[in-house]
Amino acid sequence: MIYLDSAATAPVRRESLEAAWPYLTGTFGNPSSHHPVGEAAAAGLEDARARAAAVLGVRRSDIVFTSGGTEAANLALKGLALAAPRGKHLVTAATEHEAVLECIDFLHRVHGFDVDLVEVAPDGGVSPEALRAVLREDTTLISLALANNEIGTVHDIRALAAIAHSVGALLHTDAVQAAGHVELRDLGVDALTLSGHKLGAPKGSGLAMIRGRHPLEPLVHGGGQEGGRRSGTENVAFAVALAVALELAEAERLDSAPRLGALRDLLVRRVLAAREGVLLTGVDIDRPGARLPGHASFCVPGRSGESVVLDLAERGVISSSGSACAAGSDEPSHVLLALGIPREIAQTAVRFTLGRGITVAEVEQAATLICEVLASPR
Ligand SMILES: Cc1ncc(COP(=O)(O)O)c(C=O)c1O
Repeated sequence: MIYLDSAATAPVRRESLEAAWPYLTGTFGNPSSHHPVGEAAAAGLEDARARAAAVLGVRRSDIVFTSGGTEAANLALKGLALAAPRGKHLVTAATEHEAVLECIDFLHRVHGFDVDLVEVAPDGGVSPEALRAVLREDTTLISLALANNEIGTVHDIRALAAIAHSVGALLHTDAVQAAGHVELRDLGVDALTLSGHKLGAPKGSGLAMIRGRHPLEPLVHGGGQEGGRRSGTENVAFAVALAVALELAEAERLDSAPRLGALRDLLVRRVLAAREGVLLTGVDIDRPGARLPGHASFCVPGRSGESVVLDLAERGVISSSGSACAAGSDEPSHVLLALGIPREIAQTAVRFTLGRGITVAEVEQAATLICEVLASPR
């Protein structure tokens, strides 16, 4: 099998699992217990927090461990918006992940926030001018991903955060796809959210980095764990697993990003040449920093994306016809529609995302099989 769906999920790394194991067995204590068994677990949790904070270049107290990227985005967006002392205006982009869009919709429907969607360029980018155009004096919170999960477009979040701050608004970035591929430090954001399972930690692990100076309304009330920001007995093992996976991904990033980028370029060139009319969605590969290194996303007019994915799976190549979260529905991707791609073309989307362990030989073999499938008339 050649796995080209790393943006959906990745296998758990041995180092991550081994670091977590003691907290599931010998050091099993409840971190809130005031005895040596509990204190050993609390020490493991705080060490994980310190390590995650070091990767992000933030304070330990800014980190809240969660059950994944979705919960982390819910905490950051609802928590900051509901506690915000100013304004009732939210800004996001139609290309964001559902984890963001649904929170914004909830805040609009249930709490009466006004929402504006920033204009997105056909390659998925958001320009400073486009953001400035929707900001108001009372803008509360802006949410823009560091990188898009379907097309891999990377935003210049540092510049966008500076614009947000110029009107006194906060900026949250969904860094689920960017982590391990893009610099996460010094972005100047107020909140950043991550998922463990894209990085080699187990599914159900994640974190929200929310600057401690900002008031936050918790979503889960109870015993006041995580500094009162997320109650419930902490999942120490998964926090440790996430911190280790994040550290490793960051340590390997400078080597892996150019390596994956070169393999992605090879794949993109082969796929574009495979069939007339194939188009690369997102940013051109000649702008390397503006596209995630492992992301190659296409529309293949004349073929249904779902059928390409199935034909490839029969040949042992695992890909995706859009985001895994939207998979199973025949609806074309909301991201591609937001880029202005017509419905019938958006329905032909196929995404290949390269993971850490992928080899040149695997990419070449996959490219050959993709070309074979695309050349067939079905
Ligand atoms: C950009 C983005 N945000 C959020 C999520 C949700 O993360 P999780 O699966 O950990 O809930 C995903 C998952 O695919 C994603 O790609």
